[in-house]
Amino acid sequence: MIFENLRMTDCCIFDLDGVIVDTARYHYLAWAALARELGFEFTPAQGEATKGVSRMDSLEIVLRAGGLENRFSGAEKERFAAEKNARYLDYVSQMTPSEVLPGVATFLRDVRSHGARVVLGSASKNAGTILDRCGIRALFDAVVDGTQVARAKPDPEVFLKGAAAVGADPSVCVVFEDAAAGVEAAARAGMRSVGVGGSPLLARATMQLMAFEGFTFEKLIAAIG
Ligand code: BG6
Ligand code: MG
Repeated sequence: MIFENLRMTDCCIFDLDGVIVDTARYHYLAWAALARELGFEFTPAQGEATKGVSRMDSLEIVLRAGGLENRFSGAEKERFAAEKNARYLDYVSQMTPSEVLPGVATFLRDVRSHGARVVLGSASKNAGTILDRCGIRALFDAVVDGTQVARAKPDPEVFLKGAAAVGADPSVCVVFEDAAAGVEAAARAGMRSVGVGGSPLLARATMQLMAFEGFTFEKLIAAIG
């Protein structure tokens, strides 16, 4: 079959927050609440910069937005991050399978039905909880999350570990990402990427995808091989 002969892609690696579920808004709400406690407003536009970024790096972005960088000890920062995470988990603990973004589960199954691997590559230490709350863990051949990596995106570690977990060479991997740091991490891993959601910050991705509804593995192969 021509489609199979032209195919370079054998593994799709998915970011979680903002690609599979819309948890980016919960991260934002939890950071905004912390900022308010510290006496300033953290705007949605400022929140964009925390996408794909690790918890402690996100905290630095929040503190900088309030002009509070270099003001707190390491222990205080740990306490702020723990407080933010507790708020975030309040939202996550209410999540249901209905919060998996439209078309995502169908696409993941479609990828697998063509014999390609499906891997999660997330910076979040809460990824396992979210997969279980949403009932989608079984859709993945391997899961690599923030509990298993030392270096945050744009470092390629999370995607390289994900590829290794299923024995895939980076050249046959495609990363699905909603954050600039993730697109950069994919490039550094030697992988192609799909920028999800239409942000101009994702211009470096191999291709853009507004949303998963109606998207198929055949369309992916037709677009990027
Ligand atoms: C990423 C999110 O997936 O995970 C970031 O895009 C977040 O916003 C990061 O900071 C770490 O998540 P967590 O759940 O470990 O605090
Ligand atoms: Mg994301």
